[in-house]
Amino acid sequence: MGLYEITQDPADRWKYRTSSLRNVVLTSPYVHNGALQGLAAVINFYDLYGIANRKQPPLIRPLWLTLAEKQKMLSFLQTLNSADVDKLVDDVMNASTRDHQVACSAKISASQR
Ligand code: HEM
Repeated sequence: MGLYEITQDPADRWKYRTSSLRNVVLTSPYVHNGALQGLAAVINFYDLYGIANRKQPPLIRPLWLTLAEKQKMLSFLQTLNSADVDKLVDDVMNASTRDHQVACSAKISASQR
């Protein structure tokens, strides 16, 4: 979810929290709307600099990675698994989504005061 969905302030459009890559191999589909299926799709997305928009900084540009570089990137992402995945899954399954949303809204309201 992007900040705009919470604040409805047009200045907050395209602001997304950078996700943790911990256990990323297990969490497909990727990005805020689940549009990218699999890590190879994510790597190709970054290789082509994402989706152009007028707020895009000039540092965000195509990478032109070779196939070997993409494979190394994929191998790296596959190393980010934790040893205690079962416990993490239990924690997530037992967390209350509504409590989380209320906590986020309260935090945003407090930061706007
Ligand atoms: C080749 C370099 C990069 C790789 C391999 C990479 C990898 C990833 C992956 C796998 C995700 C999806 C995480 C998920 O959905 O659980 C992600 C999301 C994200 N990354 Fe990167 N990343 C790269 C470069 C960058 C850069 C340069 C930035 C910022 C300048 C960035 C900012 C973000 C943000 C904001 C998200 C969340 C996007 C959303 O939810 O729509 N990443 N990245």
